[in-house]
Parts: sequence; C-alpha cells; structure tokens
Amino acid sequence: MNYNEVLENAKKNIGELCKACPVCNGVACKNKIPGPGAKGVGDTAIRNYSKWQEIRVNMDTICKNKTVDTSVELFGKKFEYPFFAGPVGAVTLHYSDKYNDVTYNDVLVSACAEKGIAAFTGDGTDPNVMIAATKAIKENNGIGIPTVKPWNIDTIKEKLTLVKEANSFAVAMDIDAAGLPFLKNMTPPAGSKSVSELSEIVKEAKVPFIVKGVMTVKGALKAKEAGAYAIVVSNHGGRVLDQCAATAEVLGEIVDAVNGSMKVFVDGGIRSGTDIFKALAMGADGVLICRPFVTAVYGGDKEGVKTYIDKLGAELKDTMAMCGAFSISDITRDMIRY
Ligand SMILES: Cc1cc2nc3c(=O)[nH]c(=O)nc-3n(C[C@H](O)[C@H](O)[C@H](O)COP(=O)(O)O)c2cc1C
Repeated sequence: MNYNEVLENAKKNIGELCKACPVCNGVACKNKIPGPGAKGVGDTAIRNYSKWQEIRVNMDTICKNKTVDTSVELFGKKFEYPFFAGPVGAVTLHYSDKYNDVTYNDVLVSACAEKGIAAFTGDGTDPNVMIAATKAIKENNGIGIPTVKPWNIDTIKEKLTLVKEANSFAVAMDIDAAGLPFLKNMTPPAGSKSVSELSEIVKEAKVPFIVKGVMTVKGALKAKEAGAYAIVVSNHGGRVLDQCAATAEVLGEIVDAVNGSMKVFVDGGIRSGTDIFKALAMGADGVLICRPFVTAVYGGDKEGVKTYIDKLGAELKDTMAMCGAFSISDITRDMIRY
C-alpha cells in the first residue's frame, strides 16, 4: 500500500467533514467543528501549516557520506524516529463512524509501537475512552502516552490510576482543552489549572508528565515550575482559541527560555519529514503529528499508519543527508533559514 492509496481509501471512509487532502493544510476543513477544522475564523490551523513552509532548509552535501541514523532517546527509551502520533479524540463525531475512539486508538497505538514510535491517545467525556486507550497501551508494553483532559482533581486521579496500571512510560495533559466548546459546562468540570494544582497532578502521576498546549515563554516556565518533564508547544491545531500565533512562530523563543531544562515537543501543521527536520533544527526534541494519522487509519488501518510512518521517516532521512546531519543530535539551527 502506498500513501496515495491510503489517501484514496480514506476519501471513501472518512466522512464528509474531512477531505483527506494530499497535504493536510487546514484549508478544506477551515472552521468545521464538529469536523477536523479550527475554532472561529478557522485560520490558525492554516497558519500553523504555512509558517513551517516559510522556513527553508539549508542544503550542504560537502561532508563525509555516512549512514543516517534517525533514532532518538527520550524518556529513557530508544525510538526509531523523533516523532509521535498525536492525540485525537471523538473521531466518530469529527470524522465518520468507521472508527470510534476505542478502535481508533487500538489501531494507532499498536501500529506505532510496531514501527518503533509511540502514539498519544486522547480522552473523552465517556470514561470508556481512557479505559480502552490505557488497555491498548498496556497490551503494547506501555508504549503509548495517554492524554488526560484537565478535569477536576478526583477525575484526574481516577484516570492516573489507569495510566499506572497500563505501565505507560509517560502521561500528558492537554491543558488548553479548557477552550474546547464541548468541554464547557461539563460534568465533571474541566478547565484551566494553577501552578499549584498542576504540581499536585504532576506528583500524583509518578511518570514523566507532559503539559500539552503551551504557546508562551511564561506558560513554559509555569509548566516547569509545576514539575513537568516536557511541554508540547501547541495551540491544539487552532481548535481551542481563534487567532493564536502559529507554533513555528513561538517555538524558538520557548526553546531558548527553557534552555534544556525540560524536553520541548511541538505540533501543529507538521506534515513531512522536512517539517520535522525544521522543528528539530529550531531546538525541539521531537514533534507530534495528529490529523494526518487519522487519515492514515481511515485509509489503511494499521497498514496505512505504517505507510505514513515510513513516508515521514524516508523524508526525514533524505533531508538530514542533504543538509549534512547524520544523527538527530547533528541537526542545528544553522541548517534552516527563517
Ligand atoms: C478532531 C480532533 C480531535 C482532537 N482531540 C484531541 C484530544 O483529545 N486531546 C488532545 O490533546 N488534542 C487533541 N487534538 C489536537 C491535536 O492533538 C493537535 O494538537 C492538533 O491537531 C495539531 O496538530 P496537527 O496540525 O498535526 O493536527 C485534536 C485535534 C483534532 C483535529
């Protein structure tokens, strides 16, 4: 199965709201929620994508010809590539009923683990989503990262118990989910967390804690103060607040401020191995790619996911070789232009 076949199949299965575009750039789905679009005007997802395209790579092949190694060590584990499949929840609502969150996470978690990377799983108002996601992660030897929504502390504790039982090597919280229309006025309540509330949650987690949804230096430093192991520079793909900056616009200053004291990941509009290279050159330790993995699942189940991972890996390898980087740690800021 090649990537074009994945896209063609996806078009038949993915419903009316996503067009399974050759490049997932936020244009066709713009402000469709329900659907994979963005909130309000709907241009934040488009901006995420286009800001990566403004960054160019600096080719330099006057160097020794060596084999490229894309592997990376994170959370004390070795991964084939410095990218993860990001969390996506409520797939039946936003895409089609070919999958639900349980079957989607089953496919994504196992396909990623088999290819030497890890998937983040999403959370939902239905408790069964987290129960099934952590079960899938457990069955894959703890290779997967459950992402808990910022519920009240009692609900978070219940979900963290599931995380511990699954032996997940890390856990995340999409702290920005407070802005999701469907989480407003929910029971149990979900919303923003103070530094002291967050630090209580981090302590409770007992595994490396990732705060997803940081867009400012101030936010990054607050996550650090709360004891986070890592942050994801993310605006939730434009789904939680209209008119956010693009993640590529803020990544550099956040990396500089954090100065190696926490791992920094980034998502939003990263679509190719070359985009991954750009994010790493700006100083990210890894990236998350989200919507295109939905297309991959709907277009080819586990094989679709594996095809997409191979495609990203080959593009990353090629860019590294052509820019004179033979290991992930060789990738430096002078290899891009922005
Ligand atoms: C339909 C949909 C559902 C999502 N659900 C979640 C979720 O449950 N938890 C979460 O942390 N992020 C969720 N996200 C946000 C993604 O993880 C990611 O931050 C965002 O889509 C940007 O990455 P991308 O441009 O590669 O898609 C969702 C995004 C979409 C499009």
